[in-house]
Amino acid sequence: MSTAAPAVSPTRVLVVGGGGRENALAWALHRSHGVQQVWVSPGNGGTQELEGCQQLSIAESDHDGLLAVCREHGVELVVVGPEAPLAAGLADKLRAAGFPVFGPGADGAQLEASKQWAKQLMVEAGVPTAGYWKANSREEALAALEAQGKPLVVKADGLAAGKGVTVAETLEEARSAIEEIFEGRFGAGASLVLEERTHGPEVSVFALTDGERMVLLPPAQDHKRIGEGDTGPNTGGMGAYAPAPLLDAAGLEQVRELVLEPTLAALNSRGIRYQGVIYAGLMLTEHGPSVIEFNCRFGDPECETLMPLLGPELAAVLLACANGTLHQAPALSIAPQCSACVIAAAQGYPGEIRKGDEIHSALQPSGDLQLFHAGTQRQADGRCLTSGGRVLAVVAQADTFDNAFERAYTGLAQVTFEGMTFRRDIGHQVRSR
Ligand code: AMP
Ligand code: GLY
Repeated sequence: MSTAAPAVSPTRVLVVGGGGRENALAWALHRSHGVQQVWVSPGNGGTQELEGCQQLSIAESDHDGLLAVCREHGVELVVVGPEAPLAAGLADKLRAAGFPVFGPGADGAQLEASKQWAKQLMVEAGVPTAGYWKANSREEALAALEAQGKPLVVKADGLAAGKGVTVAETLEEARSAIEEIFEGRFGAGASLVLEERTHGPEVSVFALTDGERMVLLPPAQDHKRIGEGDTGPNTGGMGAYAPAPLLDAAGLEQVRELVLEPTLAALNSRGIRYQGVIYAGLMLTEHGPSVIEFNCRFGDPECETLMPLLGPELAAVLLACANGTLHQAPALSIAPQCSACVIAAAQGYPGEIRKGDEIHSALQPSGDLQLFHAGTQRQADGRCLTSGGRVLAVVAQADTFDNAFERAYTGLAQVTFEGMTFRRDIGHQVRSR
């Protein structure tokens, strides 16, 4: 859908990553003004089906390979999806070679990659967050826990792919979570954060920033638990909706003032120019919003949910973030619609999963219905097989949440694979049936 190109839009874009989030980014970027070609590396089984998108096979950890691709294709904007390559300095490397990158350098990515670092920054910046104790040894951690004499939330310090947090109900549970971390389950040189438990609904807020200025996206609500009624183990996210009514315009403004602006200022005062998205995972407590975690990337499945609401200025806005010129970018238009996303996961997720099942889909994407692949792989014979925990996302937009979810679930009913697992109650907070 490339139309008359404003000069500030990129024409050739590379998206790094291979999940549902990256397919949604690629899809939305190709709809943007001026964009002619989008490469996704390494992509997944659905990437080639997205209009204007081409799949490359360079892994997100192969920084030299990705730099070579940027040079070969004359890429004008790189959007890095996942946290691991950001924490490993991919954005620094590409920027040093002259390519505009949407995504922070390794310094800014510590916001997600080190819980201790992020907590310290929040405290210094006066950002509301639960009280905490940091510990770099088992003894130190156990002593802090005993001193408090109540179960605390235990968080491994580094990147743990969403598995490093235990919200302990008992002291014993907190103790064993501490033991696990120092047994090296999350890597050597273990360290952790113990946190006061807070209560309230959770909401995800995303700020696109050029290091100085920011644009906020509509708040989204994720569904972390595998089971209906928000039960069972935590997952990467089983579905989402936006805009989450939990935060109205005034609430979002409060989050900007209390959380996002002070965080950006604290990053700046450390000499960090953060160009990318700040994802604030918030709990709305009785005392106001409290930061549960920061991430240095878009949420998944929040990204799949939000992208269809964003206007064709997206590529220009992300490029302006990468260039430090957000004040000159066109305003990002946001459709006044409800967006609903339901994830289909593999049997066994989030534990040991079943893989290699063929996916059959009769779903025809349309203007307000999208299918984004995640853990899928295309075979040489054209068949598409399951290859990961979260297999695909079906997303729909409508005037009401009831209609959006009805459309999404009707779409999902056209997709089948052996062991397909999904929650029927995504959006229960905003649906009337
Ligand atoms: P995270 O991996 O940091 O997203 O944490 C996973 C989940 O643990 C969050 O979505 C919350 O539901 C929960 N959690 C994390 N920190 C706290 C806290 N301080 N109090 C209560 N729940 C928390
Ligand atoms: N949906 C939660 C996350 O991306 O971390």
